[in-house]
Amino acid sequence: MSKLTESEIARLHPETLALSLGFDPFLSEGAVKPPVFLTSTFAFHTAADGKQFFAWAHGEGPPRAKHDMGLIYSRLNNPNLEIFEERVAMWEGMKDAYSFSSGMAAIATTLLATHRPGDEMIVCAPVYGGTDAFIHHFLARFGISAHFVRAGTDAPAQAERYITPLTRSIFIESPANPNNRLTDIGAMKALALRHAPAPSGGGTSRILLMVDNTMAGPVFAHPARAGADIVLYSATKFLGGHSDVVGGVALANDPALLTAIAQHRAMLGGMPNPYTAWLLTRSLETLKIRAEQQQTNAGQVAAFLATHPKVRKVCYLGLLRPDDPEYAIYQKQQSGPGSLVSFYIRGGEKEAFAFLDHLKIFHLAVSLGSTESLAQHPATMTHSGLTPEDRQLGEISDDLVRLSIGIEHADDLIWDLGQALAQV
Ligand SMILES: Cc1ncc(COP(=O)(O)O)c(C=O)c1O
Repeated sequence: MSKLTESEIARLHPETLALSLGFDPFLSEGAVKPPVFLTSTFAFHTAADGKQFFAWAHGEGPPRAKHDMGLIYSRLNNPNLEIFEERVAMWEGMKDAYSFSSGMAAIATTLLATHRPGDEMIVCAPVYGGTDAFIHHFLARFGISAHFVRAGTDAPAQAERYITPLTRSIFIESPANPNNRLTDIGAMKALALRHAPAPSGGGTSRILLMVDNTMAGPVFAHPARAGADIVLYSATKFLGGHSDVVGGVALANDPALLTAIAQHRAMLGGMPNPYTAWLLTRSLETLKIRAEQQQTNAGQVAAFLATHPKVRKVCYLGLLRPDDPEYAIYQKQQSGPGSLVSFYIRGGEKEAFAFLDHLKIFHLAVSLGSTESLAQHPATMTHSGLTPEDRQLGEISDDLVRLSIGIEHADDLIWDLGQALAQV
């Protein structure tokens, strides 16, 4: 077997590269699949090598490609983490990625790596409950404050009102969890650059644009193409895809940002273990076929719910029409609507709970993006920790139900939803 050249690799598709990129079988006895490198530490050939690898890890000298750095210790680097990271960066079309033990570890570490006391953030609500709580209750203790604006078409105009010389970042979840609201990433980037131009000769604007791409990416959305400086993931969701692993990812293009994230991960110790990274690498091989089948099913489920008399409103990107304010953003930003379907049931918590309690195929469980379908009540579960104001901004009311659609047969899912709605 011959090796692909760099220019051949550049022409290949993510679903092809997801099976081979970043792993040379002949460094591992010819194993076609990467082994799990269950080791905490790595031997140096010479003491001079060890000295050099540490200098690079401390950020000395020009930034290096990760695989040139030399393996040191599994809190800093490990082959399983690096293979996964290279493949996620390839899917996302970004320079590099760092993997984490959870989505929250990726988000928290990245925010700590990029903010200083006195900095201000602008956050498009809703964001995942853990992210919301981290910003309100933890970052606030370090003197980092945040202004929350409603995600959607007028988010850039609202955000502009809060930009000051202290603004360090704009944080967007796209589409927003749980109501699938879209914010124009390109417009937010233009806003950031207008108020804090990037230094001449390259580099990143003072105002960093951070996008949590858990819900749509990397199959249906690539926020870096619209100008995101940092892209974040809960890898627990679509990347992992089987509800059997918790993980996270942070990606960037700017070497200075990547170094800051790597160094904070090394200090805070939020890396995944090698087996977690191995499981995530395995899952990336089927990412596209899973995401596409889930999306096909979700389209049918959303169409069914949209005409059901007990449903007040369905939030699904596939139902957006050209006269919908967010349609233009959808066309620009997404290549598909994904598989998260939220809907407002007629009634309130009582009716939502009755529906959830009667489901037979859908699991009544939080999380999303897995092969099995899940249903939950954001107001009392995933988003229960939000401040009442943020819950209102996010339109997370007692009648909202969130569905994550899996790969089961769509007819069976629709039957289950129908029988549970009939019990309400
Ligand atoms: C959009 C989004 N971001 C981040 C997270 C946090 O990820 P994790 O649970 O892997 O820490 C979640 C979890 O549900 C999420 O939905």
